[in-house]
Amino acid sequence: MKPLLVLTLLLTSGTFAFAQDITTLEKIGSVVSLTKTDNAVTLTCNDNSQVQLTILAPDLIRVRASFTKPIPTKDHSWAIAKTEWTTPRWSLKESTTSITITTDELEVTIQRSPLLISFSDARTHQLLSADERPMSYDANGRLANMLFDPKAGSFVAASKKLGFDEHFYGLGEKAAHLDKRRSSFVNWNSDTPGYVEGRDPIYQTIPFYIGLQRGIAYGIFFDNSYRSYFDFGKSSQQRAWFGAEGGEMNYYFFYGPSIKKILGRYADLTGHMPMPPLWALGNQQSRWSYYPDTTVEEVVNEYRKRDLPLDVVHLDIDYMHGYRVFTFDKDRFPDPKALTDKLARQGVKLVTIVDPGIKRPTDKNERYHAFDQGLEKNYFQHRRNGDLFVPRVWPGESVFVDYTLPEARQWWGNLHRVYTDNGIAGIWNDMNEPSDFVDQTGKNQLDVVSDDEGEKTTHAKNRNTFALLMSRATYEGLERLRPDRRPYVITRAAYAGIQRYATMWTGDTNSTWDSLALNVPMFTSLGLSGEPFVGSDVGGFIGRGNGELLVRSYQVSFLAPFCRNHKVIDGYDQEPWRFGKYYEDIIRKYLKLRYALLPYLYTALEEAHRTGVPPFRPLLLNYQDDPSTYNLDDQFMVGDDILLAPIVKPDVTRRLVYLPAGSWYDYWTNKKYAGGTMISVEAPLEVVPMFVRAGAMIPVGPSQNYVGEKSSDPITFNIYPDDGGSASATLYEDDGLSPAYKTGAFRRTTITARRGPDGFAVTIGPVQGTYNPGPRKFEFVVTTGERVLR
Ligand code: GLC
Repeated sequence: MKPLLVLTLLLTSGTFAFAQDITTLEKIGSVVSLTKTDNAVTLTCNDNSQVQLTILAPDLIRVRASFTKPIPTKDHSWAIAKTEWTTPRWSLKESTTSITITTDELEVTIQRSPLLISFSDARTHQLLSADERPMSYDANGRLANMLFDPKAGSFVAASKKLGFDEHFYGLGEKAAHLDKRRSSFVNWNSDTPGYVEGRDPIYQTIPFYIGLQRGIAYGIFFDNSYRSYFDFGKSSQQRAWFGAEGGEMNYYFFYGPSIKKILGRYADLTGHMPMPPLWALGNQQSRWSYYPDTTVEEVVNEYRKRDLPLDVVHLDIDYMHGYRVFTFDKDRFPDPKALTDKLARQGVKLVTIVDPGIKRPTDKNERYHAFDQGLEKNYFQHRRNGDLFVPRVWPGESVFVDYTLPEARQWWGNLHRVYTDNGIAGIWNDMNEPSDFVDQTGKNQLDVVSDDEGEKTTHAKNRNTFALLMSRATYEGLERLRPDRRPYVITRAAYAGIQRYATMWTGDTNSTWDSLALNVPMFTSLGLSGEPFVGSDVGGFIGRGNGELLVRSYQVSFLAPFCRNHKVIDGYDQEPWRFGKYYEDIIRKYLKLRYALLPYLYTALEEAHRTGVPPFRPLLLNYQDDPSTYNLDDQFMVGDDILLAPIVKPDVTRRLVYLPAGSWYDYWTNKKYAGGTMISVEAPLEVVPMFVRAGAMIPVGPSQNYVGEKSSDPITFNIYPDDGGSASATLYEDDGLSPAYKTGAFRRTTITARRGPDGFAVTIGPVQGTYNPGPRKFEFVVTTGERVLR
């Protein structure tokens, strides 16, 4: 099938109606008895339901409910990274009407009849979140279980009172605003090329959100991989509810009050992002598809000739022999190793796409190792009646691996040897919703069974975790094949926990201003959902771009973790030089600035690895007490110190910028502004409004065209003194490539500067970690007013 035709088909596939009315559901019974263990309280209800509250940490309580039957002994989730917790101090108090669990931070009150749970601050007793109605389930099939899966059980839901001024953030990848208040969403991983704002669901499922009221934040992670629903006060201004078409009522309640603390706990629970290789922060170039090998070389040569930085080129599906994963087309790429060696000498790495569809040979005599081995070992998905499941994707009729089988994951991972042996540096996992051209809604897959730890569950449960497990198999394979290198995996679809295995991009966007404007709330929301390494196709994927759009797109993405220009097969060329010198020169300026700021970006990325706090963040993450930041969809911060206010509309050369409390320096002019107010600034196409927080010191590395081209000597610290004349910085360094950082081979340096009578005194604090970066100079440049003193 022609790719163009397929795209058109995909574009017309529908969006799910959101018609669930939870008020018709059966409510859980009242509490009749209670048992207590070391870390949990189990309540039994008069309808035989059970509710279990497990105290994992002072700020983390798990709520699990089983309707009309006891809590099952089986307890497994693909999302959870940490199952063993040191039980914190807690106490239990019972009265005739309620039960109270208290930790050092949280007070959980369970009203016995009707059963209502509320969470408050243990110290101030301030209410954080309270049930609006008892947890409920669909006893009589009033809400159609759209998945028709007998194993799924019934629809389950929990409903919380909606605060008049409560804001909602997170929920992963949604084509929506930053603040999700008064909107509703569905999670059902879907291939949605050309999506626009409001299209829902799209590729990923991260059923985790943060509520914020009066500056105080809590989080809820509803760990249920069935099709799930979140309604933040859309259907009724009384309630914010969440539910799923099957599985357990199973959620984790996090208490801040700071969002940063919640993100840290969420990372503890679902996994911390490992450090990607430093070169993954380099500029990346892609297109569907660069071939043959000489075209790839031309792209790289062009970059080098034009003095444009580049670290990575992506090979899209046409590098393969007839779309067969784990093969190279012999005519287009006769010697992949020679190609990667050649590119390596120019400082460029190759990343190859690997889709989940393994081609089923049309000719019975054809031997294709991936298909033959998988079939022989019984690693492919089957329908309930035992038939091989045969979806249709780029290679035509294909099969999918059952990634819930540990041995199948191992096998899949090992198949990547053909890439690592040929010097391929990273893997791009696409189409893993999983997309099926036969039917994009998943209906055709509903009777597909996965082993799922011996439970033999269906697609209803496994669709949303398919990409998580595929990425896991890929990541773990790369780890085994190249133990001395950090794996680099990019994924399109995901479930919570994905950050342990893959970075992500936002799929098939449009080359339009609306699509560009969506980048900002999508990146910041992903950051608030435990996915720190994000990006979008720079310039947009589908449709006709232009120089102005491309420049503004780079001005959004040049400090995003993933910065990759990519374009659809039938699109116009959009590499940085394609619209002429005027635009190319501006793009060069921003790419060069990205590379200069790599020490700052890498330090921010390590913060994400350690603490869960993303580099690309909404202002509210740094200024949680400032309501003016709660709804900002067109500004963001990178780390604690750099604020950007991009232009996401055509022909606009001036805009309002909100500067939070403190003082700020215009990055371009050094003009100092008092914060806590809106200012109006000039933004001709050459300029993205960019500000540095007074009190910051920004580490800047050498100007280079690829990571490692030059040594990081000197590192220049640009000092932006606060009103008292002080500034400080942290610099994180490691070898950028190996996993040695995990065992302490890094260096964290803390530096402070203070204005004294004879100029600035700089103090370099004691360093942390065992990594020795070798001798290099630190230089300091002081920014004062509108001129720079050396
Ligand atoms: C999907 C991907 C896109 C890729 C194309 C061909 O549409 O999202 O990035 O170029 O497939 O592989």
